[in-house]
Amino acid sequence: MEERKILWLALILYMTTAPVYCRYYSRSVPYASSRKKVSKLHFFFHDRISGKNPTSVLIARPNITKDGKSQELPFGSLFAVYDPLTIGPEPTSGVIGHAEGLYVMSSQDVLTLVTYLDFGFTSGKFNGSSISVFSRNPVTEKERELAVVGGRGKLRMARGFVELKTHFTNETASDTIVECHVTVIHH
Ligand SMILES: *[C@@H]1O[C@H](CO)[C@@H](O)[C@H](O)[C@H]1NC(C)=O
Ligand SMILES: *[C@@H]1O[C@H](CO)[C@@H](O)[C@H](O)[C@H]1NC(C)=O
Ligand SMILES: *[C@@H]1O[C@H](CO)[C@@H](O)[C@H](O)[C@H]1NC(C)=O
Repeated sequence: MEERKILWLALILYMTTAPVYCRYYSRSVPYASSRKKVSKLHFFFHDRISGKNPTSVLIARPNITKDGKSQELPFGSLFAVYDPLTIGPEPTSGVIGHAEGLYVMSSQDVLTLVTYLDFGFTSGKFNGSSISVFSRNPVTEKERELAVVGGRGKLRMARGFVELKTHFTNETASDTIVECHVTVIHH
């Protein structure tokens, strides 16, 4: 008798706690926008195409010519990126994360890239969090702006922008140091 009681209890417990798979969405509730915060971040990123330890590598390029000459980095060239982010402009100043992803040469006249990058942080308050940047990047302009379209961790639901300013560029080595001012609204 006692055993049967326990069995019934177990069954009731199971029925009340087991997930019911009948819908793939939850009830929509008002959006608590007042919980949002604004954060500003400041750092530098280092992009090096050449040398012993490149941080960006060419992974594909079309075989096209312009005016009978083959171009070194034609429209359509695609790079994989693992650029260190540092607190100061010197490459030796503390690394606080990496920009990881892709960029593609996206214009047939002026040198323009479209960047698909995840800026992830590995120290401080935002350790383990990242922002998703998806934007065109007219690299020949000294000051430019990229769109932040999302974020992870403490930067969840991030929206905002990154103001970029070229700090240093070595044309021969395709070595660039870029100053970033990020403004994001997030949860
Ligand atoms: C491009 O393609 C042509 C024809 O197939 C070939 O002869 C040439 O070597 C290729 N160039 C490069 C840079 O791959
Ligand atoms: C960042 O987070 C990782 C994983 O939680 C931890 O191992 C690491 O020590 C942290 N680094 C800093 C600098 O806080
Ligand atoms: C630019 O890069 C080249 C090749 O790595 C190097 O020889 C040169 O010293 C660099 N110039 C500056 C100003 O850093």
